[in-house]
Amino acid sequence: MITWTKHNLDRVEACYRSSKTPDEGLDKVRLFCPAATYDTIRRALSRHGRPPIRELLGKALTGAELAQQHGFKPFRERAHIEKERLLDHHPIVRPFPPSKKLERLLFLPDVHAPFQDRRAVELACAIIKIFKPDHLIQLGDLADMYSVSTFDKKPGRKVDYDWEVEGTNEVLDQFDAANTGKKYITLGNHEYRVEKEIGRNSPAFANRIGLVKDLRLKERGWHVTPYKSSLKIGKLIVTHDVGQYGAKAAESARNSYMGNVVIGHTHQMQMSYGGNSNGDKLVGASFGWLGDEKMIDYEHQDKVKKTHILGIGIGFMEENGNVHLRGIPFIDYKAEILGELVVG
Ligand SMILES: [Fe+2]
Ligand SMILES: [Fe+2]
Repeated sequence: MITWTKHNLDRVEACYRSSKTPDEGLDKVRLFCPAATYDTIRRALSRHGRPPIRELLGKALTGAELAQQHGFKPFRERAHIEKERLLDHHPIVRPFPPSKKLERLLFLPDVHAPFQDRRAVELACAIIKIFKPDHLIQLGDLADMYSVSTFDKKPGRKVDYDWEVEGTNEVLDQFDAANTGKKYITLGNHEYRVEKEIGRNSPAFANRIGLVKDLRLKERGWHVTPYKSSLKIGKLIVTHDVGQYGAKAAESARNSYMGNVVIGHTHQMQMSYGGNSNGDKLVGASFGWLGDEKMIDYEHQDKVKKTHILGIGIGFMEENGNVHLRGIPFIDYKAEILGELVVG
């Protein structure tokens, strides 16, 4: 015995509306009402003033028809229904704007060539090839320039400017070969050593043309920002350092600029978030280094082991210039990029 309640009749109608043939509709009705036949269904539809099967077939109801069938009243007439009930029964559907392609930035921190960590530089180049940055930014101290350092030198260590230039050019060759986007370098205090040496009228540098030219940076297509100056990409400031070193350097740089800033120089992986009194949210970051810690002779080796992190940084820039930053540390010469593990 079938009870033709309103609910069952609605289901019958829905079955036929979603079917192309009467047989298909009957099969669907029998899923919840196994005893149904054409005759019982026809009679029930007719007795309750519903449309006949042939009118229902394959015709989805419009919103207005559905509202009418279910006795819904226009919104204004049911405005008295309490808010909570409306919220419970009418979920808010908020359309998200379509996603937009973001420009990609990749930051190469201090390399200190020719005393780079070769395996780390190769891993960085592999990441450049995968990530394909629109903007490749080297954060300074690309070259170590040990030969022109005024610090006391370790006895027996090689001191040869031309050899250091040659080694740094080899690293640049690697970066150039991996990269296809725009290239920028914000020179660091180690490159500045050469300018200071030339400025001192050192006889050994009397005929020197300068490190930027020796490295053929402009010929190679690198946009050069001198030491103690900054580069702006979107709403991001990039500079080698603003005079601070150590654990709080990225935070200090953010506070110095009261802006979003990426620095080199620290050899540490740091991200510092904060804001200003206008309520703007700001970030300061440094992305480790790519040097060989065994070649550092101006700091205690144990301190270097604790603080120096091999790695790079990436950023994604919106059309309005906001940049979303991320540090990519190299862990046992492995790095995660875009959800994949790259092994150096
Ligand atoms: Fe450095
Ligand atoms: Fe530096």
